[in-house]
Amino acid sequence: MMLCLNTGYAQTSLTKNTSFKPGENWYDESGHIINAHGGGLFFYNGTYYWYGEIKKGKTSRVPDASWENYRVVAGGVSCYSSKDLLNWKYEGVALPAEKTDSANDLYQGNVIERPKVIYNARTKKFVMWLHIDSKDYAAAKSGVAVSDKPQGPFTYLHSERPNGNMARDMTIYQDDDGRAYHFYSSEENATMHICLLSDDYLSHTTNDKRILINLSREAPAIFKYNNRYYLITSGCTGWAPNEASYAVADSIMGDWTQNGNPCKGADANKTFYAQSTYVLPVDAAKGKFIFMADRWHKTNLEDSRYIWLPLTMNNNVPEISWTDSWTIDELKK
Ligand code: DGJ
Repeated sequence: MMLCLNTGYAQTSLTKNTSFKPGENWYDESGHIINAHGGGLFFYNGTYYWYGEIKKGKTSRVPDASWENYRVVAGGVSCYSSKDLLNWKYEGVALPAEKTDSANDLYQGNVIERPKVIYNARTKKFVMWLHIDSKDYAAAKSGVAVSDKPQGPFTYLHSERPNGNMARDMTIYQDDDGRAYHFYSSEENATMHICLLSDDYLSHTTNDKRILINLSREAPAIFKYNNRYYLITSGCTGWAPNEASYAVADSIMGDWTQNGNPCKGADANKTFYAQSTYVLPVDAAKGKFIFMADRWHKTNLEDSRYIWLPLTMNNNVPEISWTDSWTIDELKK
């Protein structure tokens, strides 16, 4: 059986997923491989939504780049929904790429990466921010899109350099007080910035702070535990895996202290051959989270895999260990 409704390849029989199996092919409810890379999760009205980069087609290397700039046509942003985080329904393309107009930010020859969605209770809009770039990553911008529904379609508004700063890898964090912050790798990826978004979440305020100065960190993923903020990042080695580290702050715009690697055990120094993208609270009060990462397959980016692992707090220290198979019930214990 070959189903052609979706962005990935189909499996021959439809079976329910009963445990997370990091690194294995992960099929959606229609039997297609989930295509949502560099993704983020969003919980709304009892449903989880997973947004990510659609990577489909042949990977090629951009000629004349001084680094291993492997690229695949940008397919836009996909959206999946789930009640249990294991079994995902494909909701469609939340933000499509532009096929012909090379002047459009969303042109498929550009970079469309790391989409993150939050909900603005004042405007009643779902807001997506994402990394928008030229294929050589020189544009270094952030794009924003809005929708009335979590699954989209999102209307793309524009891209900008926050307060004039370069912006590449990014995430969005919505705090308990409703304020939202944009974390972005800036200054040629040497320094991370945190910028408070406007009340409608559609633009940047001038409250923009430099953190992890000259530490060259990217792939930010943030969570809150015990009234402190934790930021997991990777080093900057293109698609190749490297060692993660985490930073901690007592207030989001306060001082961030860089700590060690949250990953433990074999392959911890390579983040289990993956790179952070998001941390989802499962039982935050008890220090139980899911660490979401991408295992990039640089010469076949479409075949990049998802590494979701339990993250548990141990004496205020995040710990992520490899496990071949695990469940939410085990994490919650
Ligand atoms: C590392 C970033 O984290 C990824 O999102 C992607 O931009 C690659 N670099 C490209 O090499």
